[in-house]
Amino acid sequence: MKSISILGVFVADLCFIGDKIPSKGQTILGKKHLVGPGGKGSNQAIAAARLNGDVSFITKVGKDSHSEMAFKLYKEAGVKTHSIIQDEKLFTGVAGIMIDKDGNNAISIVSGAAEELVNKDLDNHIETLKKSEIFLTQMEAPDEITIYALKKAREHKCLTILNPAPAREIDEDNFKLIDFFTPNETEAEFYLNKNIKTETDIKNAANDFLKKGIKNVIITLGEKGIYFANNKENFFLEAHNLKEPVIDTTGAGDAFNGAFAVGLANALEIKEALTYANKVAGISTTKLGAAASMPFASELENY
Ligand code: RIB
Repeated sequence: MKSISILGVFVADLCFIGDKIPSKGQTILGKKHLVGPGGKGSNQAIAAARLNGDVSFITKVGKDSHSEMAFKLYKEAGVKTHSIIQDEKLFTGVAGIMIDKDGNNAISIVSGAAEELVNKDLDNHIETLKKSEIFLTQMEAPDEITIYALKKAREHKCLTILNPAPAREIDEDNFKLIDFFTPNETEAEFYLNKNIKTETDIKNAANDFLKKGIKNVIITLGEKGIYFANNKENFFLEAHNLKEPVIDTTGAGDAFNGAFAVGLANALEIKEALTYANKVAGISTTKLGAAASMPFASELENY
């Protein structure tokens, strides 16, 4: 199996579960409260490791109860932590997450220590990248190190996956650094500055991304599944049929990206890897929490 390195952020998710997500100026009575591990990069690392991926995580955390929670989780899942920088002068990040009765969410994240990641941190851990064949990242770490890491990953012949979440500006020149680009519909709308509603809109959006120099585009469509396109083929894949109700979609995108990386690491064909990732993402929505909802390889057999 090929090895995977992931650059990203760990935060403690403070989740509030209620009938609805409060609107501006409103106070509601919630139903449940949960503090658990989150952060997109970290969730993706957990997803990949629980599926038996060989995963190293690159990030920066503080030295506090939240980072303790992170290290405990990585130990249990088997994520390699030699490239996690711990700085006792900084605090580990947190996210506030509101979840409604249908599992929809609204998130505000403060990355804390991970906001201080700089290129030099990656240089100090370049061996991790050099030993990997697959590199996965998102847009939660500072832009500068994210783009620098994509460049270094290419230099060291890694396949690059960018999950552009949360959607933030990317210089046009940098799209060519991406082998697999995995926006959801809203993120795709942000990058192309246009509405994406119909199947034709989705196909056109994927073509627009290919024209920017991205090699493969995967637009995730929530309960509608995904659309894939590269210069040779394109297809829609339906969402996986779930046995249990959706209770929390937080981290579903992370489950998808982590699992897709494992699919590639196991040398699956693209369509197979996407089907696998779809299934993992679907299962994650039937459980509460972000990292906590990532399924183990053994659970997949029952689906
Ligand atoms: O993708 C879900 C994640 O986004 C949450 O865990 C939250 O921490 C934010 O980073």
